[in-house]
Amino acid sequence: MAVKIALVNKKGGVGKTTSAINIADVLIHKKKKVLLIDLDPQHNATKTYGAVYEGGATVYDVLTGESDPMEAVQHTSFGDIIAGDEILSSEETMFQNKIGREKLLKKNLKSVDEYYDFILMDTPPNTGVYMLNALTAADGCIIPINCDDYAVSGLSQILGVIHDVIDNVNENLRIYGVLLVAYDKRNALDRNINEILPEQGKQNGFPVFKTPIRTCVEVKAAKSGKRSLIETSPKCNAALDYQAVVKQMLRGIK
Ligand SMILES: Nc1ncnc2c1ncn2[C@@H]1O[C@H](COP(=O)(O)OP(=O)(O)O)[C@@H](O)[C@H]1O
Ligand SMILES: [Mg+2]
Repeated sequence: MAVKIALVNKKGGVGKTTSAINIADVLIHKKKKVLLIDLDPQHNATKTYGAVYEGGATVYDVLTGESDPMEAVQHTSFGDIIAGDEILSSEETMFQNKIGREKLLKKNLKSVDEYYDFILMDTPPNTGVYMLNALTAADGCIIPINCDDYAVSGLSQILGVIHDVIDNVNENLRIYGVLLVAYDKRNALDRNINEILPEQGKQNGFPVFKTPIRTCVEVKAAKSGKRSLIETSPKCNAALDYQAVVKQMLRGIK
């Protein structure tokens, strides 16, 4: 059985996609069998992977049960992915009105669950039906946040959704940690957030990854060049930080 990890935050631009891709990248370079599932209608991870999202089977076909997930997997130079799909946007109401709507992904994942070691799920920036599907299918979740006040104050909302999922549909779901992304220690606000976060976590019952992901230009260069960060810039700050985060995560999962 794969360890299934959802990257969630109701905000956009906080590093969900970047973290999904780079955590997958680190695990792939540890010789693990890794699958990324793109549940975001904006399908940024799919674009970075260079996967096709028109014509072939996508996550939409997996959610509807029309395609076996193994048949929807695309093998790219980055790694394996089930592509996101714009149609998720116009079909959201259809999915929302289904009975058992939050269990569609979990129900249909069997073949890939048996084959892969890790399945990472990238999600849209809202608490809608696709995020619920990821959290319901997941063993654990990671909550990326960026360094602004609102990101920290917005945590209580996403934690509320996660606890709702735990109480109602997935009692085994764990919070692997809140992950500070694009951290710049030259910035006083960033330093302040990095300092108060563990304390806030203690008070409100959520774990925080010890290593923030430092801001670094190589992240964007790798993304726009559609190249693996671990291969192109293995010693850049973000590559080192993602490796430390995966290490901490794997220790926690054991
Ligand atoms: N460590 C980092 N250093 C520099 N830029 C980053 C870093 N992490 C993320 N970014 C940039 O921040 C932006 C938002 O990240 P993204 O992962 O797309 O967020 P989300 O998926 O939550 O919307 C992207 O342009 C991404 O390249
Ligand atoms: Mg994204």
